[in-house]
Amino acid sequence: MLTKKHLLAGIAIAAGIGVAATASAQVKPETLVKQRQSAMVLVAKYFGPLGGMAQGRVPFNAEVVARNAGYLEVLARMPWDGFTDATKDVKSATLPAAFADPKFKQGQEQMQTAIANLAAVAKSGDEAKIKAAIGEVGKTCSGCHDNFREKQ
Ligand code: HEC
Repeated sequence: MLTKKHLLAGIAIAAGIGVAATASAQVKPETLVKQRQSAMVLVAKYFGPLGGMAQGRVPFNAEVVARNAGYLEVLARMPWDGFTDATKDVKSATLPAAFADPKFKQGQEQMQTAIANLAAVAKSGDEAKIKAAIGEVGKTCSGCHDNFREKQ
């Protein structure tokens, strides 16, 4: 049963989250870099199998596409908080242009749009359309990496 005590505990936790969000402004630049890279790793984790399906390397499964696309809609918003000016001097694979060129922001938006489209198309169950939508997401990854990430 939800008692008044529970309710107060819930409010205290919510307030704690608020404090954490404000405090994140003071997170160390090295931590921000690690976090943005971690977010990218998860993007790759959930996109990888879909790319494999589009290329015919992984058996097509519309349910997996729909599930992963849903995760990606949220994950694809996460890396960008970590690209603050305070991180410019931290060693990473990010090229300096990312901090100056408006195309970097456009690349983020293109990726998010392509993922939202994939999530919508995934529900149709139409294999050809879904594979094409996966391909469009893949283009946004390489489009941005070509310009803003050190060659691997
Ligand atoms: C708008 C630009 C942009 C888009 C779009 C983008 N990335 Fe990245 N990605 C970067 C940058 C910049 C780095 C380098 C991060 C760093 O080291 O600071 C990176 C790094 C990575 C890494 C390496 C993470 C690590 O271990 O350090 C992976 C994996 C990755 N991206 C996967 C993807 C995938 C998959 C997509 C598409 C679904 C994608 N990225 C879309 C800019 C982008």
